Amino acid sequence: MLILGIETSCDETGVALYETAGTGRLLAHAVHSQVAMHEAYGGVVPELASRDHIRRLTPLARGVFAQAGRALDQLDAVAYTEGPGLAGALLVGASFAHALALALDVPAIGIHHLEGHLLSPLLSARPPGFPFVALLVSGGHTQLMRVDGIGRYALLGETQDDAAGEAFDKTATLLGLGYPGGPELARLAESGVSGHHRLPRPMIASGNLEFSFSGLKTAVMLLVRSADPDPDTQFRANVARDFQDAIVEVLTAKCARAMETTGLTRLVVAGGVGANRALRASLDAEGARRGFDVYYPETELCTDNGAMIALAAALRLQQEGRQLRKRAAFGVRPRWDLETLS
Ligand code: KG4
Ligand code: ZN
Repeated sequence: MLILGIETSCDETGVALYETAGTGRLLAHAVHSQVAMHEAYGGVVPELASRDHIRRLTPLARGVFAQAGRALDQLDAVAYTEGPGLAGALLVGASFAHALALALDVPAIGIHHLEGHLLSPLLSARPPGFPFVALLVSGGHTQLMRVDGIGRYALLGETQDDAAGEAFDKTATLLGLGYPGGPELARLAESGVSGHHRLPRPMIASGNLEFSFSGLKTAVMLLVRSADPDPDTQFRANVARDFQDAIVEVLTAKCARAMETTGLTRLVVAGGVGANRALRASLDAEGARRGFDVYYPETELCTDNGAMIALAAALRLQQEGRQLRKRAAFGVRPRWDLETLS
């Protein structure tokens, strides 16, 4: 089967073509990031996001068909992100997917964005087998899930306030960095020296798998305020480094605890923050010490993309052998709990 995957839940327009034959293969994928457009506003402007998805989808889709050397009439299904995400942005992808599916008389399949993220390491050269623990760390979510198979997801713990990516982004703003702050803060942290500022490790000793990151951001705010009116670059780099150290330490400790309590030996890391090099190094070291293997998506598939949506649809079709209904009516789910999937 040839599946087109469409992702428009936030500020990336992602389109991909996935072929299920054999062990399955990603034929082509393309992402347009709206970062430059939203940068001036310091965050995503939902209305602008929706309009840009409308502009980008058709050329991106044409591009992946050309790149894969396939034609529209070879398509067997269209997968799209049904939620969670920005309602207007989701509706653009859902409308595009349903219109195309209707025109080609093929089914449209709505996919949960986080299911896409947590299955995305299956597209890598070294895919994990089931069961595994997944650490989902994105701009909107920080969750530890137990994954026993497609659609078999149990929440082990999650953040009580800010998501890890959100903490990176807000702290980056405090340090005068651009949007989105995660990658910029990580870059600045490389020239920082650890241990200048003792930042909290929220909930590290809570004895459970819950997280909290808002206190960490507040601690950075107080630090920045207490500094000179115009903190120099080295000060900012040191704060960035200490902030990253704190977040990495908490995420690593919670993952280690999740591996211990579940007794599983595979940890999958997914979502934008999974691109963070310090986090990867720390999790790899912890895995080597404790005897678990850590799996990541290819770096380009850590952030939002259409490939993970096409893959999730392919795996669902394979698993369920589901008779797909063709529907003319559809909706999106801006809020959608992953655990409710089956
Ligand atoms: O998964 P994603 O692309 O979108 C959401 O679904 O949220 O994740 C985006 C988040 C942003 O908060 C961004 O700052 C963060 O991932 N991020 C990073 C890095 N690259 C992206 N955070 C820390 N270090 C990075 N290298
Ligand atoms: Zn995402």
